[in-house]
Amino acid sequence: MSVRLCPVFLAALAFCFSVHADSPLEKQMNQMRRSFKELKKAMDAPVEADKQKYLGWVADLKKASEEAKTMEPEKTEKVPADQQKAFLEGYRSKMEESIELTDELGKAIEAGKWAEAKTLIGQINQVQREGHSKYRGKEH
Ligand code: HEM
Repeated sequence: MSVRLCPVFLAALAFCFSVHADSPLEKQMNQMRRSFKELKKAMDAPVEADKQKYLGWVADLKKASEEAKTMEPEKTEKVPADQQKAFLEGYRSKMEESIELTDELGKAIEAGKWAEAKTLIGQINQVQREGHSKYRGKEH
């Protein structure tokens, strides 16, 4: 049996894939999600013996966040040209806020201050929400 695929269907499929391809920033964000998810779960019932593992996730989160800070949100091009500079500065300073909290999280974990670490997880979550509502495109 021979299978013939409609060229219009194939073109539509290719278009969908190109529209949904992850941007470089999205790839970094997905990386951030992986380590942050592990940290959130771990801080529910932290174990002294697993400290080094937690610090490894903190380092991964920080590295991906620093990479993300150098990139530009897709939404930037939809912002009027004369506001793009301020938009990007706002994005970078929000990202920096997240990085500083991540540093504090590392210090709290290092010192075994688990209640503080849990509070910091909540604060990073909050900065993430603010960052997404302002800088992420509507299609997400
Ligand atoms: C730990 C903190 C964060 C995590 C785990 C995280 C995670 C993610 C994930 C998984 C995505 C891709 C999927 C989706 O759109 O839902 C995403 C997209 C995005 N995030 Fe975050 N995020 C964090 C913090 C932030 C902050 C602080 C900002 C802004 C300063 C930000 C800005 C964005 C933008 C702009 C996108 C869309 C990607 C693009 O425009 O190319 N995120 N984030």
